[in-house]
Amino acid sequence: MKELIGRLTGAYGPSGREDEVRRLIAGELEGHVDGCRTDALGNLIAWKGGPGPRIMLAAHMDEIGFMVTHVDENGFARYAVVGSMDHQVLLGQRVVFPGGRMGVIGSERVEKPEEMKHEKLFIDAGAGAGVGVGDVAVFHRPLEESGCRLVAKAMDDRVGCAILVEVGRRLTSAPNQVFLVFTAQEEVGLRGARTSAYGIGPDCGVAVDVTDTGDTPKARTMEVSLGKGPAVKVMDTYLMCHPGVRRALEESAAAAGTPFQREVLERGGTDAGAIAVTREGVPAGVVSIPTRYIHTPSEMVDYADVEGAVALLLAFVSRPLDLS
Ligand code: CO
Ligand code: ZN
Repeated sequence: MKELIGRLTGAYGPSGREDEVRRLIAGELEGHVDGCRTDALGNLIAWKGGPGPRIMLAAHMDEIGFMVTHVDENGFARYAVVGSMDHQVLLGQRVVFPGGRMGVIGSERVEKPEEMKHEKLFIDAGAGAGVGVGDVAVFHRPLEESGCRLVAKAMDDRVGCAILVEVGRRLTSAPNQVFLVFTAQEEVGLRGARTSAYGIGPDCGVAVDVTDTGDTPKARTMEVSLGKGPAVKVMDTYLMCHPGVRRALEESAAAAGTPFQREVLERGGTDAGAIAVTREGVPAGVVSIPTRYIHTPSEMVDYADVEGAVALLLAFVSRPLDLS
């Protein structure tokens, strides 16, 4: 599975341009699911099992990126951020455009650090570069292993995609109809989750995504750590997790014999926030992968948490759905 995470995080796929990731995932699922389709927004929807209640698992394919807004006569490109990103992590970073054109992020001289912002930064993609307005670059970093930790760009949320692929492959039979949804455009406003959930009309929705941790020096207080198991979310900015879904997820963790943590995220959200308010409302929850340095080129997870999430989700979709 590490190899799959490496290929998925290495793929190019900013919001709205998820094609490469989608092709990769469709190839990985071939022969392991009952059917597969792509909707108008670019969500990849695969299904398996049934004929019971419809369970939608969602992980987003898109990653944050840099859309070129202007290129000057010397080839320096200004950009708009696709998704959200702190300018403080950018100076000297390498980025890559589709087709493989490399760029380095440089900055204008500023007198005071507080003057630094995205407007002062530019992408130096080589003189006379074939880079134009509307092109989108993403971070360029290969996956690295450091002990039990994995570090890569776009771990948010390709690690979730890898987990869903693994669930699809390992699931032999389920009483429920399981929809594995690889969503588009999460980073720009949970857009793919909204249309795919509307199309499916699930009885229950669970997003699988990364979440912050509170386990680094002088971190914001948060009861989530790397290596203590996947987290079952209670609340974030966009979602009050359905108590029945939460209970079912926690029971599934126990049944799978995998440790889990409870998560309260004060800033941020996931696809489940959009799924929950689709149609007449959908009971929704989230399984989170504790991740350090989210939205930087070096997002770090613990491999045991990833494996724990696969075990938890397999147990969840294999049991009769009970949200009481
Ligand atoms: Co994100
Ligand atoms: Zn995410």
